[in-house]
Amino acid sequence: MSVQDRFSVVTGALGYTGRYITALLIHRGLRVRSLTAHPHRANPFGAQLETQPFRFDDPDALARSLEGAQAVFNTYWIRFPSGGLTFAQATANVKALIDAAKRAGVSRFIHISITNADPDSSLPYFRGKGLIERHLMHSGLRYGILRPALIFGHEDILLNNIAWMLRRFPLFPIPGDGNYRVQPIAVDDVAQLAVGLADQSADVIMDAVGPETFTFNQLVGLLARTVGSNSRIIHVSPSVQLILAKVFSVLTRDVTLTRDEIRGLMNDLLVSRQSPTATTRLSEWLVLNASTIGTHYRSEVAMRA
Ligand SMILES: NC(=O)c1ccc[n+]([C@@H]2O[C@H](COP(=O)([O-])OP(=O)(O)OC[C@H]3O[C@@H](n4cnc5c(N)ncnc54)[C@H](OP(=O)(O)O)[C@@H]3O)[C@@H](O)[C@H]2O)c1
Repeated sequence: MSVQDRFSVVTGALGYTGRYITALLIHRGLRVRSLTAHPHRANPFGAQLETQPFRFDDPDALARSLEGAQAVFNTYWIRFPSGGLTFAQATANVKALIDAAKRAGVSRFIHISITNADPDSSLPYFRGKGLIERHLMHSGLRYGILRPALIFGHEDILLNNIAWMLRRFPLFPIPGDGNYRVQPIAVDDVAQLAVGLADQSADVIMDAVGPETFTFNQLVGLLARTVGSNSRIIHVSPSVQLILAKVFSVLTRDVTLTRDEIRGLMNDLLVSRQSPTATTRLSEWLVLNASTIGTHYRSEVAMRA
């Protein structure tokens, strides 16, 4: 097989993390096939990227879309249920993708999971991720599982929208005492780790976390200083935060923060017990991006339309 014939599959190759993984693979001379629900999205990679629709409902078609791939990189997942798509269905979809990769003879499956994924979690996001990890480990495929905490970068939603609120509003609410922690990683570093896992032959499970850990109070304080905010930081109960988030969601026609996301944050699930696996520091990245972060609101719902 010549270099031009070699390709990998990336689910959501034009999504947030998928785009960075795709850019790295193409930089290495590989072609990429994207599986996506948005096959007509503008393609900045030209002939090096082809797109096909997800065929989770058709195991034969799904396996055919993976045949010949060197590796499959899976970024597919949902942040919250919508349009009839539940966490249970998204979990079943990824399991179908894993089974199809096995049938198609794919040599390596790289799955983007999350820190503290757990099949016994009471939170559907973390439980679904844990169930998928377990399915992959028992699939017979060679695998790499990458577990990022909070991913930051130019296209990120959460930190951008916190900065946007800090630029505009006199008050910024934090749920609970704000002493729970997050360990952000740059999206470029996630992509480097994911592509690195495809090069290995051993099965690997690795947290993807940067060198800095912040309490949520520290994170909001850092963002406030970055954008020169005069907002007063207040602490509210998680239920008040949820009401505020719901009102805000109606105003922005978005889903800004869910009950489960508040619980995940407050349960310290976006932090690793392992050593950092990436080097980019959020504090330094923010200095470089202070003039742009939070200048526009970024809507998850609008992006998925
Ligand atoms: N972003 C973070 O801070 C973060 C933190 C920890 C772990 N992760 C994990 O990293 C992976 C990539 O995250 P990302 O933020 O880069 O994701 P993303 O680009 O927004 O989406 C990745 C893929 O999931 C599909 N998708 C997303 N929401 C969907 C929905 N509501 N219905 C149907 N399909 C949907 C996208 O479909 P299209 O191709 O059609 O767009 C795309 O294929 C995910 O597995 C996520 O769980 C992310």
